[in-house]
Amino acid sequence: MNISVVGTGYVGLVTGVGLSEINHNVTCVDTNPQKVDLMSKGRSPIYEPGLEELMEKNIKLGRLRFTTEHKGAFNNSDVIYIAVGTPDNEDGTANLTYINQVIDVIANSITEDKIIVTKSTVPVGTNHLIMKKLNEKLPNHIKVEVVSNPEFLREGSAIEDIFHGDRIVIGADNQLASEIIREINKPYNIPIFETDIRSAEMIKYASNAFLATKISFINEIANICEKVEANVEEVALGMGMDSRVGNQFLRAGIGYGGSCFPKDTKALKKIAENVDYDFKLLSSVIEFNNRQQRKLLDQAINDFGTLKGKTVGILGVAFKPNTDDIREASSLVIIRDLIKMGAKVKVYDPVAIDNAKKELPIEVEYKNTALDAINNTDLVFILTEWDEFKSIPLECFTDSMLTPNVYDGRNCFDLENVKNSGINYCSIGRKYIKNQKVKL
Ligand code: UDX
Repeated sequence: MNISVVGTGYVGLVTGVGLSEINHNVTCVDTNPQKVDLMSKGRSPIYEPGLEELMEKNIKLGRLRFTTEHKGAFNNSDVIYIAVGTPDNEDGTANLTYINQVIDVIANSITEDKIIVTKSTVPVGTNHLIMKKLNEKLPNHIKVEVVSNPEFLREGSAIEDIFHGDRIVIGADNQLASEIIREINKPYNIPIFETDIRSAEMIKYASNAFLATKISFINEIANICEKVEANVEEVALGMGMDSRVGNQFLRAGIGYGGSCFPKDTKALKKIAENVDYDFKLLSSVIEFNNRQQRKLLDQAINDFGTLKGKTVGILGVAFKPNTDDIREASSLVIIRDLIKMGAKVKVYDPVAIDNAKKELPIEVEYKNTALDAINNTDLVFILTEWDEFKSIPLECFTDSMLTPNVYDGRNCFDLENVKNSGINYCSIGRKYIKNQKVKL
């Protein structure tokens, strides 16, 4: 099948590469010529394990190409995938500016009937709006059918997810369009769920909101565990053995971040508000996550009295490991506040430093190794569970910090090992190990 994919962000690029790998002829379209040049050479603008290898392979095989020319790409394709961003507006609603721009370009470009597949996460009802707008703008003899095909891939494991996801959701009003999209996806060998357009749109928001709720739930349990001297990791293991609960997304930590959960939870709350429904549970999930992101910072302020003038090491800026994405990461909240308070902040992340430099205050110092970031510090925050951090010998903290106070937002170390290490170790939902007096 000949396919174009508009937008080469996370979703668009991985979608295009995935479709080319299962033997479709794919043209990815983006308005940014530098990005198109880079991708045409098999280089990915985002850090995603395994992605460049597949880009290079499929470009070589002639199944994958990149262009800034919408018109040519669309007219050589049977199906057009829309994968442009839908960032959040100030009020939490999804911003559809890019979607509207694509609608105009499609309307001005295509010369025959097409199937339009929406990969972007859009509010319920948007696909019908896209279909209506396109059919109004196009001459009478050209018709489009719109199919909702939400994306569930996770950053950092996008390649694994695209070929081994749990399901592919296809929402369509038109039987033939649904069948064509099912055929396109068949080689993935992943269960396909066909439904109506609005339900498909809702599945995406409901799934992300549910997962965010699950994380906030275990984080609240963690906070209670600390007070009743239980261990959240044991609790999560015991809960997860019940297949109705499921053992995934029960890792307690300093809150969720990233490009999807914060945005999609807010957007779903707005979708509910627009139909006069107060989604109270989701509102608490969002508010609680904002508090959880600051939890260890508040604990450290409480321990030290003030962090003004303290030297603080930060291990991890990315919102999770195996990505350079820092959008809505808990690290941003903590680092910005530390700088405001007058602390000296030294930051290390294996891949996200370039992105951090664009976002964080200029006072932040960047280090090339984890050890450089913790050297001569009063306290350290671990904010991303990179494997590299989990394997830091605990003596490094005692040997190189001024006072070894470690605030671990991702439970990277085993409590048994920490007990005799000499460090003060505050993690999430587990006993606070105090080996030394905090030096003020
Ligand atoms: C998420 C969804 O998983 C994916 O299906 C959707 O397409 C996009 O949004 P992503 O944002 O890439 O994917 O990452 P994910 O692995 O889901 O993690 C999101 C956030 O939740 C991260 O900040 C992570 O640290 C946090 N998290 C995840 C936890 O705190 N605990 C967990 O148990 C799992």
